[in-house]
This record gives sequence, C-alpha cells and structure tokens, in this order.
Amino acid sequence: MTEKLIIKGGKSLQGIIKLRGAKNFVTKAMVAAILGDSASTLYNVPYIKDVETVSRLLELHGCSVEYKKAEGVLQINPANVLSPKIADIDILVGSSRIPILFCGPLLHKLGEAFIPNLGGCKIGDRPIDYHLESLRLFGAIIEKAKNGVKITAPDGLKGTKINLPYPSVGATEQVLLTACISDGVTQLSNAAVEPEIIDLINVLQKMGAIISVSTDRVITIEGVKNLRGFRHTSLPDRAEAASWANAALSTGGKVFVEGANQQDMTTFLNVFRKIGGEFDITDSGICFYHPGGELNSIPIETNVHPGFLTDWMQPLVVCLTQANGLSIIHETVYENRFGFTDALNKMGAKIQLYRECLGSVPCRFRQMNYKHSAAIFGSTHLKGADIEVPDLRAGFSYLIAALAAEGESRVSGVEIIERGYESFFDKLLALGADIELLQ
Ligand code: EPZ
Repeated sequence: MTEKLIIKGGKSLQGIIKLRGAKNFVTKAMVAAILGDSASTLYNVPYIKDVETVSRLLELHGCSVEYKKAEGVLQINPANVLSPKIADIDILVGSSRIPILFCGPLLHKLGEAFIPNLGGCKIGDRPIDYHLESLRLFGAIIEKAKNGVKITAPDGLKGTKINLPYPSVGATEQVLLTACISDGVTQLSNAAVEPEIIDLINVLQKMGAIISVSTDRVITIEGVKNLRGFRHTSLPDRAEAASWANAALSTGGKVFVEGANQQDMTTFLNVFRKIGGEFDITDSGICFYHPGGELNSIPIETNVHPGFLTDWMQPLVVCLTQANGLSIIHETVYENRFGFTDALNKMGAKIQLYRECLGSVPCRFRQMNYKHSAAIFGSTHLKGADIEVPDLRAGFSYLIAALAAEGESRVSGVEIIERGYESFFDKLLALGADIELLQ
C-alpha cells in the first residue's frame, strides 16, 4: 500500500538526529552469522525494512532471530539452518538483493542453495554475473531455474583466484562469505574496499577468519575449518548522514547528525564544503549547516571508495539546483541513476542528461545508450509538485526538494524510503519540517 506525504516547503531544518548502523553493512553481517557454529549479536542495528526482510529470510532458513528495536540489538542463532520452501522465499525477496549473499554460507552448511530473482533499486540492470562466476570458480554448480538459480557444491568449495572485472561491493562480499571456510587460500583481485566491506572483514575476523587486504585492492582469505559467532557494533550509515547534510544545506538549516563518522565521509565533506556548506566535527557526530551566502556549482564524478559514493549523489543533486552556475555529475557506478531528475525539472529545476562521460575518465558506459551524466543549472526556484518515489535515494532527494520548494508537495510511495532511512518521518518532524502523513 503506497504511503503519501504532504510537505509544505520553505522551512529550514534545525535540530539533532541520531544515526544508527549502516544499511549496507548490517544486512551482510546478518548473513555472515549463518557461517558461525554459535549465536551472534549485532549492535547499532537500525529499524529499517531491509533488516526486517533479511531477518525473515534468516528465519525461513531455520535461524532464530531476535531484534530489540529500541536498543538496536539483533541476535541470530544459526543452529538449525535448513533449506526453505522456495515459495516462501519468493514472496519475500521483491525488494532486496541480499539473498544472493546467502549462497556461500548455505553451500557450506547445506551443500545447496536456491536464489530467487532479485529485487533492489531500479537504477540499472543489477546483474549477478560476477557473483555466479565467482561461485563457479569455488567449484559450485549453477543451474538457471525459471524463478531463480539453483546452486550445489557436490565436491565442496575450494579456495581459488578471482579477478573482478569491476570492484563490485556485492561480488566482493560474495567471495568473502564463501572463501572463509573454503578449503585452501582465495585471492580476490580488483576487490571493493568500501568501509562497509572492511567492517564485514572485521566481523569475519572476529568469527575466526584469516583475511588480509593489500594496498592494490587484493584481498587474500586463508580458509579455516570453522567459524564461531560474533559480537559487533556496526559502523554508522554514511549514506544516511550525507542525506541529512544535503537536507540541511538545501533548506538553509543546521542539523547535528549524532554518530556520523568523519573517517568514512572525507570525500563527501570536501564536496559539501566546495559547494558552500559547512560542518563542525565532534567526537559524537557532525553538525552540517548552511553558513549563509551563495552556493557554488561544481563538477562531481562518482566512483568506488575512496571516491564519491554513488549513494551520496541523488540527494546532493537538489543542493546543486540551489547553487549558482552549471554543475556537472558523471555517474560511473550505475548506468541509470538519473531517471529521478524528471520530477525535479517538473518542480522548476534545470537538469539535462547526457550519454557522454562528462568527467575525467571515460567509464564502462561510454558509447552505450545510457544517460549517465547530468548538467544542473542553478540556482533555480523550486515549486511544490505531486511526485512519486522511484527508488530509495531518489526518494530522499524528493523529500529534500519538497522541503526546499515553495508551496506544497505530495510525495507518494514514501514506504520505499523506509527501506533505508530509520524513522525518517519522526526525524523530519523533530527537525521542524511541516509534513503530514496521508493515510
Ligand atoms: C551495493 O550494491 C549497495 N547496496 C548500493 O547501495 C551501492 O550503491 C553499491 O554497493 C555501490 O557502492 C547494498 O549494499 C545492499 P555493486 P551492489 O555490485 O553490491 C555492476 C543504496 O542506495 N555489477 O558494487 O549491488 C552493477 O550493475 C544502494 O543503498 C555487475 O555488472 O553494487 C553496477 O553497475 C544502491 N555484475 C556495479 O557493478 C555483478 O555481478 C556496482 O555494483 C555485480 C555488479
């Protein structure tokens, strides 16, 4: 059932919000718990739809899951892992890509896995070829089925050499979760090394794994016999922190994001300052604010870590509609992440999309039919409109645009935002937003 928000724009956001663990880490740590021969406990877990989805998936696979929402503590006992009914999994998967990461742990525990066709944000094709090729190299046998893939490992899984065509976050996680208790050593080249990946390595090391990361993005995993449960506190969600920073800047406000961590956000903070935003860093979080004056247009190119995170881009676009001059964005991670700009243009923004690589490096999408570069002319006066949320980060950018616009907006499909932003409605109210949830 779609949920609709009425937002009256023109008010600056002022106040404090509490950030909890990273959506793109906690869901992977939950899957890692299957590998343990004892229970695991995860702290700082946000109450978001993706956590609920993975909790249900774990339960369908025989694990017991207990989540204490107020404390953000999640306990998983993998003692009775079993093969679930495919129909049950199918119903659940819809909006998530996490099920593909169950392959390695289930192959180790059960010798088989069935992965339904995946969901996730519609920001590109989201193929899983790197995942499947990696599993084959470990010795898995993969059979395409009508509604997913069936995977078996009759001779077990053996350490191997894998070179990723692109430093895919998901494929790196796939290899990490499969290699830890495979027989022998695995060498993964061109790996992703995002902070969320490093925190997953921290979890696996606590469980008993032996993993090293070299300076040239090669991750080496020495297979061990078994792993035990872990106790771990998640790193904070740097994508959510940047979203609130953009909301503060776009509305001329000041928001303290408790729990935000400078170390994971260096590249974002540099861009935020170049545009004309300011921030104060404390031990307990980061205060983002508009210091007054004009905002500046700039060129941005998204990239893998330590580059500008692609999930920071969509909420930032609204700030750039408020900046003087022509900003250019070259999105090099996903081929189709600018579809959401049509609605911003309907509100009065001036954004044009291009197939060319408008950045410093030609990327994988050069000469292909993808509009993956954008020119944003500002500053423009945004007016409220009726808009529909297409994906998670675009959804938050629409909230920002409606908050910054003159007049009233009706934003529908906001339940998608609950996938990755814990209690965003309450947080907006606490920051003084003039919003109402339409039943
Ligand atoms: C993770 O997605 C995040 N999602 C994404 O966040 C994030 O944008 C992305 O990493 C990059 O940082 C989760 O962690 C749940 P990829 P993932 O594999 O793992 C191509 C958000 O808003 N590719 O690094 O799916 C792929 O098509 C979400 O929180 C293949 O071609 O990203 C894309 O172009 C959005 N074949 C590129 O690699 C494969 O087998 C990067 O994808 C796998 C990926």
